Amino acid sequence: MRHIFVLAALSALASPSGVFAQEVSVARGALVAVTSGCHDCHTAGYNESGGKIDPEAALKGVPLGWQGPWGTTYAANLRDEVKDMDEDGFVKFAKSFTAKPPMPFYNVHAMPESDLRSLYLYIKSLGAPGDPMPEALPPGETPKTPYIVMAPPIMPQ
Ligand code: HEC
Repeated sequence: MRHIFVLAALSALASPSGVFAQEVSVARGALVAVTSGCHDCHTAGYNESGGKIDPEAALKGVPLGWQGPWGTTYAANLRDEVKDMDEDGFVKFAKSFTAKPPMPFYNVHAMPESDLRSLYLYIKSLGAPGDPMPEALPPGETPKTPYIVMAPPIMPQ
C-alpha cells in the first residue's frame, strides 16, 4: 500500500515532459527557461515563431530597445552574462541581482536553487557566447536600434 503512495507522490512531482522538479539537469533548465518566460525576451524570433527556439539564437539577447522612464534597456545575452561565472557564482548572482524594466528579476530570485543550477547548465550547453547586446541608455537618449516605447496611452478627459 505504502508503495502506491510513494509512486503517486513521485508522479505528482514529474512534469508532463517527464522532468522532475528537484532534478538538476540541462533538460530541466531548458524547461524552466520556457515556462519562466526567459526566451520571450532573451531569444530572437521566439515570439514571432510561436515558440520555436532557434538553437543559434537561444538566450543570446535581442537588440530591440525597451524604452520608458528608466531609459532604454536591451534583454541581455545570457550566454555572455554567465560565461565567466561558475555554477555557485551564478546561483548567488541570480538570487540577488536587480535590473531595470521590463526585466522581472524578482521572478528569478524566487526560483528554487535546483532550478537555478539547471538553468545555468542549460545556458552553458547552448554554445558560443556571441556578442553582448547594446549598452542601456539613460532617459532622453535616442537609441540607434529599433525600440519599443512603453508608455500609457493619453486617455480622453
Ligand atoms: C519582459 C522581458 C524579459 C523577460 C521575460 C526576461 N528578461 Fe531578463 N532582461 C530583460 C531586459 C530588458 C534586461 C536588461 C535590463 C537592464 O539593462 O537593466 C534583462 C536582463 C537580464 C539579466 C542581466 C542582469 C544584469 O545585471 O546584467 C539576466 C541575468 C536576465 N535578464 C535573466 C533572465 C531570466 C533568467 C529570465 C527568465 C526567468 C528573464 N531574464 C526574463 C528582459 C526580460
